[in-house]
Amino acid sequence: MERFKDKVVVITGGGKGIGKACADRFASEGARVALLDIVLADAEAASQSIGTDRSMAVYCNIADHQCMHDSIQQVVDKWGRVDVLVANAGIYRGFPLAEDHLKDWQLVMDVDLTGTYLSCHAVAPIMMAQKSGSIVVMSSIAGKTSWPDSAAYSAAKTGNIGMVRSVAQELGPYNVNCNAVCLGHADTEMLRSVDARICQENGWEPGTYLKELTDSNPMRRLGTVEETAALIAFLASDEARYINGQAIEIDGGRIMS
Ligand SMILES: NC(=O)c1ccc[n+]([C@@H]2O[C@H](COP(=O)([O-])OP(=O)(O)OC[C@H]3O[C@@H](n4cnc5c(N)ncnc54)[C@H](O)[C@@H]3O)[C@@H](O)[C@H]2O)c1
Repeated sequence: MERFKDKVVVITGGGKGIGKACADRFASEGARVALLDIVLADAEAASQSIGTDRSMAVYCNIADHQCMHDSIQQVVDKWGRVDVLVANAGIYRGFPLAEDHLKDWQLVMDVDLTGTYLSCHAVAPIMMAQKSGSIVVMSSIAGKTSWPDSAAYSAAKTGNIGMVRSVAQELGPYNVNCNAVCLGHADTEMLRSVDARICQENGWEPGTYLKELTDSNPMRRLGTVEETAALIAFLASDEARYINGQAIEIDGGRIMS
């Protein structure tokens, strides 16, 4: 399949995890991919593995308005357009409500909510001028349900879904669709760090929380980054042009909301 032949795809958080899997998937389907990441070395390594003729690594902190704008400008200077944005970069911080974690709350809001807004904001005028484009935002099942210690993450990921609905209506008339992906659990560094924290707090063996997530999932396994990248690529493809403003779960059937 070459659904993205010569299209320009921007992926935030493209240096590892789901973002890197997206970069590999879009590149394998003919796209030129820009990997924006706060850890430039990871973005560079991911770009090297794809091939620097078809990819570029850009330092970007999505929570920084000017930095986000400059990063997109670098892509446009090099390739002249942006066809797809995968607003994927995000962080997780878990903390009990009764403890004082205002800094963690603010960080999650800055990155997961404001950063995702700034990512969409930066590409909007470009896609509107092109009269074409596609935006896929990485939300989470935490945007549709929640669990203890996740007030900040859930609030931000629910906010992502609300934002997507507004963006979908605003950019739809310009032939730009916008959807959210609500992932359950995929085996990445982020999920392993959540496991490490929860297991340490409870005095469990490392991996116990991951095993519990696996055993309680209807499909008895975690998701893979490749499965998530496949859904994101579908949503960004011409096959999904009429899907707009949706928040689609990929979670093995965990929440079925
Ligand atoms: N892994 C899961 O199970 C899971 C579940 C639901 C949702 N998600 C969401 O998927 C997205 C990717 O998660 P992942 O598991 O691949 O995480 P990860 O930690 O493995 O990778 C995240 C990437 O984003 C980058 N990043 C972090 N903050 C950034 C910033 N301010 N600016 C630019 N880049 C930044 C990191 O450097 C890293 O390369 C996140 O939005 C996350 O909330 C993940």
